[in-house]
Amino acid sequence: MYCTKRITDDLIWVGANDRRLAMFEGVYSVPGGVSYNSYMLLDEKTVLFDTVDKAVVQRFMENINEALGKRALDYLIIQHMEPDHSTAILAVMTKYPDVKIVCNSKTLAMIKQFYDFDAESHTCIVDEGDTLDIGRHQLRFIMAPMVHWPEVMITYDSTDRIIFSADAFGCFGALNGAIFADEVDFDRDYMHEARRYYANIVGKYGVQTEAMLEKISGVDIEMICPLHGFVWRRNIGDLVAKYMRWSSYEPEERGVLIAYATVYGNTENAAEILSSKLRDRGIKTQMFDVSVTPASEIVSAAFKWSHLVFASTTYNAGIFVTMEALISDLAAHNIQNRTVAIIENGSWAATSGGLIREQLEKCDNMTILNKIVSIKSGLKPAQMEEIENMANAIVATFPDSEATKKVGAIALAPVAADIIDMNTMFKLSYGLFVLTAKDGDKDNGCIINTVTQITETPLRISAAVNKANYTHDMIMKTGEFNVSILAESVPFSVFQIFGFQSGRTADKFAGCDYDARTANGIRYIPEHTAGIISAKVAESNDYGTHTLFIADVMQAFVASDEPSVTYKYYFDHIKPKPQPPKADKKGFVCKICGHVYEGETLPEDYICPLCKHGAADFEQL
Ligand code: FEO
Repeated sequence: MYCTKRITDDLIWVGANDRRLAMFEGVYSVPGGVSYNSYMLLDEKTVLFDTVDKAVVQRFMENINEALGKRALDYLIIQHMEPDHSTAILAVMTKYPDVKIVCNSKTLAMIKQFYDFDAESHTCIVDEGDTLDIGRHQLRFIMAPMVHWPEVMITYDSTDRIIFSADAFGCFGALNGAIFADEVDFDRDYMHEARRYYANIVGKYGVQTEAMLEKISGVDIEMICPLHGFVWRRNIGDLVAKYMRWSSYEPEERGVLIAYATVYGNTENAAEILSSKLRDRGIKTQMFDVSVTPASEIVSAAFKWSHLVFASTTYNAGIFVTMEALISDLAAHNIQNRTVAIIENGSWAATSGGLIREQLEKCDNMTILNKIVSIKSGLKPAQMEEIENMANAIVATFPDSEATKKVGAIALAPVAADIIDMNTMFKLSYGLFVLTAKDGDKDNGCIINTVTQITETPLRISAAVNKANYTHDMIMKTGEFNVSILAESVPFSVFQIFGFQSGRTADKFAGCDYDARTANGIRYIPEHTAGIISAKVAESNDYGTHTLFIADVMQAFVASDEPSVTYKYYFDHIKPKPQPPKADKKGFVCKICGHVYEGETLPEDYICPLCKHGAADFEQL
């Protein structure tokens, strides 16, 4: 019997849940099950987004039959060919032989690899930016290679502003009768499964995920429909913010993950004592016995915490087997940007610590504390000081509490309501600015790059603002705005917060521990800024994509002596670059997925082991 869920008037979930699967992809336990999502869009044409795993084909076919009623199926859009989403393609083709498959050329190649039917004659190939008009809805295709396979694409329904996101924004766990993330206590019951899903399935491909996030940053999103887990219609900005953090390998929380491998409990004992010392110093910890907890849980936690401690006994003159597996798993998932401490144990020749260090030194941007605590069989009272020292060394890498407090204090510096310091105008350059506005209780801001002084009497500036920005609409309505002139110390996270998400769905000031406002009541950015200008719109001119606001300066003050950031400085020093090859590395990099082949010459018949593209798609490092 069918079991479908209505998402909008003309969009229906036709997927199914699987609670019998022991190991997703043969390696990740799914104690809460997993959903295979597929969506039916009923317009003048009928469109099915992806299919499902072989385990649930029967229910799926009943579901699409119910969703279609007596209608034919016109299009099957294949966004991802991994078999958990594509096994039912043959069943669909058999039941609806006139259906047109819509996919990209890489997908078509994979269809031919997996199946033996005349795929070409059924297929319409699409590429980046191509659109499909199905009546009321306009669908636009966005390529998202390596999120998580090379053929992955996502689809934007610009009519209802829905992203069909393939593996991105997915989650382990069956849906249990719900369909929307806001129907459940997602943070409590599912966030760890969303993180575990991201870290283990997509975690290796942070650069590619960031590229996908950048592509969708300019579109208005009201709903996200992933291939696993819940549909998102609220708090989308929060989910996108998590993805920005995970994909950039920035920790979510300051705290220490302690993973230990123990045979008779002595290594565990040292790990427990360290955890206790850290807690005494106010540091959060989370401990895992790597022989008991599945690696996917620990990989996921490593994406969350800022600090990692590995404590391992020595075994067969190497790292204990489960710890060795964990370390290589973390390296395979590209873990980086972490501070690490190591404890080793060995009754006669301890080697595990040095070997762990060797492995982790190959990961990018790891700060490994110098001193390895080395135990012989069991920790002795004389060594307690070494554990104390390790705890102190870890604490020393946390930002000191006084420095943290200052963040709030900066915002509170009093500023006269009528101050107009002309020096502020000298801070303007072809730079980058946070433009803020306020409409009722709603504060918002966006990044712009064109603010200039036009006249001195009256003192006027111009600001060009893209009409797609919510801040633009707020200024059109209220006629007031602030410009925070960014300084060279500004971190990339400011651009992520104000530039990569929409204020329509996200509170861009969430998590901000200051409330700095000018006399007009509009927020400004008190840190990493060179100057602040408040302005009142005198006129606005329409320039197609942008509105040029001409505005009277009402308040202006210098915020710091720092140089203003220029557009060039941003690209040269702030915007993260693709990881450069190691200086001594000779080889070739795959242009599709970033895999590096080390060697002087690339064999002509070389196939990328990650994305399976040939030698022609490689370029020399
Ligand atoms: Fe659920 Fe990459 O597939």
